[in-house]
Amino acid sequence: MAIPQSITNRNPSQLHSDQDFLNHSESNSLEISIPHIYSRPFIQHDVWQLKNNAAARNYEVALDRSSYETHFYNQQRIAAVIKGRQEKFFMEHPVATPAGFRKFLEASLEKILTEAEFDASPYVCKITDPSDNGFIHGYGKYLLYGDDNEGAPFCLQYFHFAPGQKTPLHDHPVACVSLVVKGQIVERHYQAVSATEARKTQITLRDYFDRKSILDLSATNIHSLKNKQTSHAGSVHFYYMDGDVTSRAVKTIYLKAPQNGFSVIRNLQ
Ligand SMILES: [Fe+2]
Repeated sequence: MAIPQSITNRNPSQLHSDQDFLNHSESNSLEISIPHIYSRPFIQHDVWQLKNNAAARNYEVALDRSSYETHFYNQQRIAAVIKGRQEKFFMEHPVATPAGFRKFLEASLEKILTEAEFDASPYVCKITDPSDNGFIHGYGKYLLYGDDNEGAPFCLQYFHFAPGQKTPLHDHPVACVSLVVKGQIVERHYQAVSATEARKTQITLRDYFDRKSILDLSATNIHSLKNKQTSHAGSVHFYYMDGDVTSRAVKTIYLKAPQNGFSVIRNLQ
């Protein structure tokens, strides 16, 4: 696994001029337009080559320069920690596979973030005005790391939720792990009642460093994450980016079906 040079070799002096940021455009991206004020060589050169254009879309919410630099240093420290673990892992396990290393990293996600001194402070949500129609799903997404890992690709993302914001109901075509790193998150689980609708089955309150894994893709994994607190919340997601060029981290977006008296398990302590 080669750590992308665009993250290991950059420093703030290599950040582009403001004029470059303003002129930046991404020609083959963006189903939904998000303002980009900074050039994104990391996305274009690295995740773009994860065989997964779709997953690289819509990551960055515009940050001011100071916040962007903090984000940039998060990327660099995480890359350095992963590189260090890679060397140690293959020294201790010389016949291990890239898939084995990816599993090891996923299982070590908390330690990686701690060792990298991950700083969630610079991040913001995409839509900040609660009166905006897009506010509820206007949470921020940021790419923290991406690697093709010799055919066992993966990426790390950070999601930032303002109070009241949530993901749509969705499921995943790829294995993934989520970890709460700021505030609290309420996770709802659903069962599909049709190809487009799903009914709630369980609600769980997730505290700091609570981890949830979706590794068995033969089981239903429809869920949503919501920040029901009055302060901001955030979670880090580790996605196994297997698949062809059309694959992506989310498989289907569902609508909420009426409960019709079906009970919901609540774990809100
Ligand atoms: Fe998810």
